[in-house]
Amino acid sequence: MASLSSDTPAPALVTDTRSRHLRDLRISVTDRCNFRCTYCMPKEVYGRDFQFLERSQLLSFDEINRLVGIFKHHGIEKVRITGGEPLVRRQLERLIEKLAQDTSLDLTLTTNASLLKQKARLLKDAGLQRVTVSLDSLDDAVFRAMNDVDFPVAKVLAGIEEADRVGLNPIKINMVVKRGVNDDAAVDMARYFKGSGHILRFIEFMDVGFTNGWQMEHVVPSRELAERINNVFAIEPAQPNYLGEVAERWHYKDGSGEIGFVSSVTQAFCRDCTRARLSAEGSVYTCLFATRGTDLRSLLRNGASDEQISDVIASIWRARNDNYSEVRTAETAKLRKVEMSYIGG
Ligand code: GTP
Ligand code: 5AD
Ligand code: SF4
Ligand code: SF4
Repeated sequence: MASLSSDTPAPALVTDTRSRHLRDLRISVTDRCNFRCTYCMPKEVYGRDFQFLERSQLLSFDEINRLVGIFKHHGIEKVRITGGEPLVRRQLERLIEKLAQDTSLDLTLTTNASLLKQKARLLKDAGLQRVTVSLDSLDDAVFRAMNDVDFPVAKVLAGIEEADRVGLNPIKINMVVKRGVNDDAAVDMARYFKGSGHILRFIEFMDVGFTNGWQMEHVVPSRELAERINNVFAIEPAQPNYLGEVAERWHYKDGSGEIGFVSSVTQAFCRDCTRARLSAEGSVYTCLFATRGTDLRSLLRNGASDEQISDVIASIWRARNDNYSEVRTAETAKLRKVEMSYIGG
């Protein structure tokens, strides 16, 4: 079987119909999660009867590693491991170990931190560089209601602390803001993480999937939040770290650190979107709001060569035209889009 090795010359970098390169790959390793965040996996949908993927349907770590090698030939520089909750996938550190062999990749993971205290050291030793932790409030009652499995804030903070201690930093903290639910906790979150070295990011509640009951009234525009924070702690805009960075960066004027805003609803960032997403069962999606993906697992399991798979990836990317956030309407919000827990955010 023909295979691509690191010595195989890279093809000319592929661009989509909007001249965007392929730079980041977000890999979902499981569609399961031990939380039931109301904005992501509402209990009424993800109840006892919900059919999650079977183990045999999941890509193995070797299959994921092989695909990453192929994607690298198309220029990806960054891999983010997601879920569901990625740390519920058994022995995830083994995948990290395989992927980390390639030291040129920026290798990170987004987690709810429920298992981070136990896993941080293993992940660091396996070669993970950083983690991003989701935390929506420091108010225990609010957080327990939002994760809907009564999970306490203290355990998430303990996970963050351990990740920091073992060197999985700088840590980013993602807070999804929903009006009337946790938006009044934003300033408290800013106060808590200010000066900690961690980077807090406020995320506008998005209409991902079609089960989370999204309505525009629930969205707190980042501009409004920035004003609220600036009224208490003076902030100023900072330059992006790289073209197409998802979060808009701001600094505290007193030098005590950085915060970010992810504003997919009020300030779309599709223009420079270089992200592809791989589902846990091996389908590739070119947008977070896609309604369908392309199955790569059958190619993997039916003996396709690296070159053949590489060609398929190139043709998917060449045909890519996505700009969902730029054209979002109340109608598109209701489309049967792929769910966040399946595609990993
Ligand atoms: P870094 O830049 O490495 O920090 O990663 P990131 O901000 O891309 O990753 P993270 O998983 O922390 O995502 C932050 C938020 O941005 C999550 O709510 C994601 O769902 C959202 N997000 C990430 N990429 C995209 C994207 O391409 N489009 C949209 N609309 N949202 C995105
Ligand atoms: N809108 C915005 N962010 C979301 N996340 C999950 N669901 C939504 C949503 N509907 C966040 C998670 C995690 C990241 C990958 O996406 O909290 O931090
Ligand atoms: Fe799980 Fe993350 Fe979705 Fe919450 S947002 S249910 S932690 S995958
Ligand atoms: Fe990229 Fe789609 Fe998000 Fe736009 S909406 S930034 S195209 S993933």
